[in-house]
Amino acid sequence: MEFSTKSGSPEKQRTGSVVVGIFEPRKMTLAAELLDKAAAGYLSEIIKRGDMEGKAGTTLLLHHVPGVLADRVLLVGLGKEREFREKEYQAAMRLAVRTLNETGAFDATFYLTEIAVKKRSLAWRVRQATLLAEEVTYRFDQFKSRKEELRRPLKKITFSIERRNELPQAEEAIKQGCAIAEGMALTRTLANMPPNVCTPTYLAEEAKKLAAEFKLSCDILERADMEKLGMHSLLAVAKGSHQPPKLIVLHYKGGKASEKPVVLVGKGITFDTGGISLKPPAEMDEMKFDMSGAASVLGTMKAVAGMRLPVNLTVVVPTAENMPGGGATRPGDIVTSLSGQTVEILNTDAEGRLVLCDALTYCERFDPDIVVDVATLTGACVIALGHVTTGLLANNDGLARELIAAGEEAHDRAWQLPLWDDYQDLLKSNFADMANIGGRTAGTITGACFLSRFTKKFNWAHLDIAGTAYLSGKEKGSTGRPVPMLSYFLLKRAGKLN
Ligand code: BES
Ligand code: MN
Ligand code: ZN
Repeated sequence: MEFSTKSGSPEKQRTGSVVVGIFEPRKMTLAAELLDKAAAGYLSEIIKRGDMEGKAGTTLLLHHVPGVLADRVLLVGLGKEREFREKEYQAAMRLAVRTLNETGAFDATFYLTEIAVKKRSLAWRVRQATLLAEEVTYRFDQFKSRKEELRRPLKKITFSIERRNELPQAEEAIKQGCAIAEGMALTRTLANMPPNVCTPTYLAEEAKKLAAEFKLSCDILERADMEKLGMHSLLAVAKGSHQPPKLIVLHYKGGKASEKPVVLVGKGITFDTGGISLKPPAEMDEMKFDMSGAASVLGTMKAVAGMRLPVNLTVVVPTAENMPGGGATRPGDIVTSLSGQTVEILNTDAEGRLVLCDALTYCERFDPDIVVDVATLTGACVIALGHVTTGLLANNDGLARELIAAGEEAHDRAWQLPLWDDYQDLLKSNFADMANIGGRTAGTITGACFLSRFTKKFNWAHLDIAGTAYLSGKEKGSTGRPVPMLSYFLLKRAGKLN
């Protein structure tokens, strides 16, 4: 998709379609009024008859509106003006793009970006509009032998900007929106990929491609390297699989050399059968999404490098396949992690924390400013928070607040759960320093408690994306979350969030 900005009246646009909003009940936005005036009351007539009352979720496509140069006018219902917030803005934008994309429009000029949204800037409106347009038109059809051809998909979007002096910041916002969207698309494509294709080796190859594209430095640790280092917790997860594990490291240096990096760590289990603690068969295919954390940190790297943000960012991906096999780890096995702490593996299905703990210890060598890990870690998180919000736990409240604020601004939200010491007792083992599970209660918290034992040397936050990384059922597929949250977090740190 191509994006541009323009400032001018809607009736004068020589474009395939103009998109304007109508509030409920029957209240025209400024752009709609201008069209109506040029069309000698044509729109007010339609509105009066009740064909478009402004209800949220409704649209009306008009052809050859008199006095208007564009071929079509798309009216989009916005709901009540008093209730028009970021969620409603985003819904209207999504609906407009989807409608145009399905009706065979080639280019369109959107006047929705002129509508005020409480607490949100013009740059926000344009950035989000760009991102949503790309998100809505994303397709994953590389494994369909007959592709569904859209007649003529939407190719060009122009955002109307009221004041000419605002054009530069809108252009900047488009660039940011595109970069974040490209990051999300990478995340979604990696996560949607079938698990016979997307193996740890495949992820490592994709990381190398990303490194070549953006001139990042890239390090892939092989099994032998990890054995030498003593990453026996990570290695234990890979033992039942024919696929060799990898530890992927990427560095982007956009900031001053003296600046400590932000480190993102993503869980990269390319398929989680549960191992010997085998999962039940229902929906097990969805465990191909168990590398969504990895996909999201790679996607965020793409977004940040694409925006050339003045920050130093390191991405670490511990990746393995969790399979039952003759060599697989057994419940009761004890391993020594890279940190030197021993772990009794009571459940081989709690494998995410086993790969993450060694990756987190490995982060110490980067002298990080902060570390954020991203993981589809616990089913308990889906029960607690559903598919709406990501679970957040941190050993530093300032960092937690920053991430929550970024999530709110990106409308990709997180909610904090407590990481109090009182929960640590649940991880007691009779035979090793700790067990890898904490029993039936507070599963998301005990998962984070386990990780907290490996993050004592830096400021750290953990994002449990088990409920938010992908959708099930008819809409099955990766969401690309939490790339928007992490991108906004880094935009803010870089001082580039207008
Ligand atoms: N990948 C799963 C978590 C998961 C479950 C993600 C459902 C998305 C949907 C993770 O490896 C796992 O199996 N966790 C166990 C932990 C338990 C054994 C302590 C779980 O949540 O049941
Ligand atoms: Mn598991
Ligand atoms: Zn898992």
